[in-house]
Amino acid sequence: MSIQWFPGHMAKAKRELLAQIKCVDIVFELLDARLPFSSHNPILDSMLEQKPILLVINKADMADKIILEQWEQFFKAKGRQFIFANAKDDRIINKITKEAQFLLAPKLNALKLKGIRPRSMRAMVVGIPNVGKSTLINRVAKKNIARTGNKPGVTKAQQWIKLNPVLDLLDTPGILWPKFADPEIGYKLALSGAIKDDILNLHDVAYYGLQFLAEMYPNLLYSKYQIKLPLDQMDRVFVSIGQKLGYFAKEGIVDINRTVVKVIQDFRSLRIGKICLETPTSINGGAENK
Ligand code: G4P
Repeated sequence: MSIQWFPGHMAKAKRELLAQIKCVDIVFELLDARLPFSSHNPILDSMLEQKPILLVINKADMADKIILEQWEQFFKAKGRQFIFANAKDDRIINKITKEAQFLLAPKLNALKLKGIRPRSMRAMVVGIPNVGKSTLINRVAKKNIARTGNKPGVTKAQQWIKLNPVLDLLDTPGILWPKFADPEIGYKLALSGAIKDDILNLHDVAYYGLQFLAEMYPNLLYSKYQIKLPLDQMDRVFVSIGQKLGYFAKEGIVDINRTVVKVIQDFRSLRIGKICLETPTSINGGAENK
């Protein structure tokens, strides 16, 4: 997560991603299960050249199961191919392979009908920062030490890892930049850890998170910080939490910065609980593009 996304970086990332996509038969787009809409960048859809795409809704182990059921209905209604996954769990490999084979069946059958013996199919992982791309690739790599070597038409730096006998995975993920235009999406991405902490005002990010909890998960908010609702003004809320945590600077004054950082860490580390930052009904009409 060391990249700051200036227009030049985005143009370079787009060029690199286009070159990678050209070499593969299927794309695995990783999304964060806590924010499946905000962790998607629609620019990817315009780059796919009609390649099949599997949505890997990752970090499902960190998300609210009830809201995930709503997302399941949402993606089914859209006719999308998707799985809920945990990139830290080996079972993800079988799940992905099964779905990929289903999505690639028409292409393989078309080759067979032409009398062509199908070559191994190629896949790649794509997503915004922090969704688990490297975790997934490393998991596959650990299980399949033997790398398959270079392929024609692919730069030498790119290596392939065997997902199964007929499916290879590119060992370098395609990196997408997060969407920035909508401040609310920015806050959610910051709470999930997808954007650098110095891009947004952390006080605003933490207060957005507390407001979100007050609305959607008031019980979790109370059990974590004993805050009474309705939520007080930003400074007063942080003073109250800081006092409870015993975060005092000099002369008994609450260390607000330390408190803010702690609230954000609590979000990211599940110390508040398993939550989703958006539901199919909470997102705006832009979701229709998914
Ligand atoms: P990226 O390549 O897309 O940028 O993401 P990366 O794999 O680096 O994953 C970012 C963080 O998310 C890592 O935690 C990783 O362990 C964690 N992670 C990835 N997938 C999952 C998942 O499905 N479930 C859970 N619970 N965590 C996941 P980290 O704290 O940054 O690193 P580490 O301490 O685990 O090494």
